[in-house]
Amino acid sequence: MLITTHREITRLRLFLAGIALLLALPRTMAQTPSVAATPPMGWNSWNHFARKIDDVTVRAQADAMVSSGMRDAGYVYINIDDTWEGERDAQGFIHSNEKFPDMKALADYVHGKGLKIGIYSTPGPKTCAKFEGSYGHEEQDAQTYAAWGIDYLKYDLCGLRDIMKSAESPEAAHKMMVNAYVKMRDALRKTGRPIVYSLCQYGNDAVWQWGASVGGNLWRTTGDIKDNYARMEQIGFSQAGLAKFAGPGHWNDPDMLEVGNGGMNADEYRTHMSLWAILAAPLLAGNDLTSMSPETIALLTNREVIAIDQDRAGKQGDRIRAEGPMEIWARTLADGSRAVGLFNRHPQPMEMQVDFRELGFKGAVKVRDIWAAKDLGLIQSSYQTSVPGHGVVLLRVLE
Ligand code: GAL
Repeated sequence: MLITTHREITRLRLFLAGIALLLALPRTMAQTPSVAATPPMGWNSWNHFARKIDDVTVRAQADAMVSSGMRDAGYVYINIDDTWEGERDAQGFIHSNEKFPDMKALADYVHGKGLKIGIYSTPGPKTCAKFEGSYGHEEQDAQTYAAWGIDYLKYDLCGLRDIMKSAESPEAAHKMMVNAYVKMRDALRKTGRPIVYSLCQYGNDAVWQWGASVGGNLWRTTGDIKDNYARMEQIGFSQAGLAKFAGPGHWNDPDMLEVGNGGMNADEYRTHMSLWAILAAPLLAGNDLTSMSPETIALLTNREVIAIDQDRAGKQGDRIRAEGPMEIWARTLADGSRAVGLFNRHPQPMEMQVDFRELGFKGAVKVRDIWAAKDLGLIQSSYQTSVPGHGVVLLRVLE
């Protein structure tokens, strides 16, 4: 049949373009996830404010994220953790409590600053702080979040654990949990709004093996962090071996940052930032952004550390070698260079040495000390330096 009219030609063109799009779609989606293409960066209320969080405080954090330069350094999400939840109405829709008079208005405010906003719930009937959970109301809650303009959901197992106790076997309990995470994934998808889906079940049942399959963009790999070196190092250095489970759109989450909360010294916080960057971990500040010292701002906004964390190849790093308290970790970056962390877990300074051939380099390498912001020049094979107690020397190495 001959196609004659202009309208028919246009129709044919649209039809062919549609087919081309359909063919290209799966590849495009695999290459660039719609959310969390790099580990999410932002702020979360829990570590510093816990239950003392409200609308006014969240607005002030959003303001400070901009005025401190954190937004320009890449921090995006303003995440409200537990204790915002109010009652359900007669139709079963959740409302925020008196601390948050108007969630939609708050979301608009945060969006108006060029930021995104996150919220928190649980698949159980009650959250860890005993507020209303999403159990039995998953679709309604997802719709409510989308209507408010929410961009990120942290979904914390909490109250579902009680229900899981009624399961006949550990396998049945596991299935219950997996189904609960799938249920909210589907509910979020149904809204049509891109919402980062953050699983929080403390690393149980090797979540890194199945977190992505239930739609998780990130999943907590451990219990809660605390603002002290012992807990931070316990969590951070236990991440060895998890690298292969992470990648664009799906990340291991060793919990939020404690930088600036005061429980660690500058060397310890540098270890925290450096290790999280090598781990391709989400960088969710957990301090009060309205009262940061210049030192805290410098720790959180170091562009070269953030560039490692946010490297587009999305390859999580791992431990290369440990000798007593001295550990060398490395991460391969998109430009072929490697981020190398010389970590000293001993409280006193130690001399540490790294042989770049051990990291796969063959010839001389260009080395930059990131926290010192200093190029160390061309190095033939190995580098030795003193590393402060509980501290790190973070290098970027290129052949
Ligand atoms: C915990 C969770 C914390 C915080 C807290 C709120 O289960 O791991 O990060 O969200 O609940 O109650």
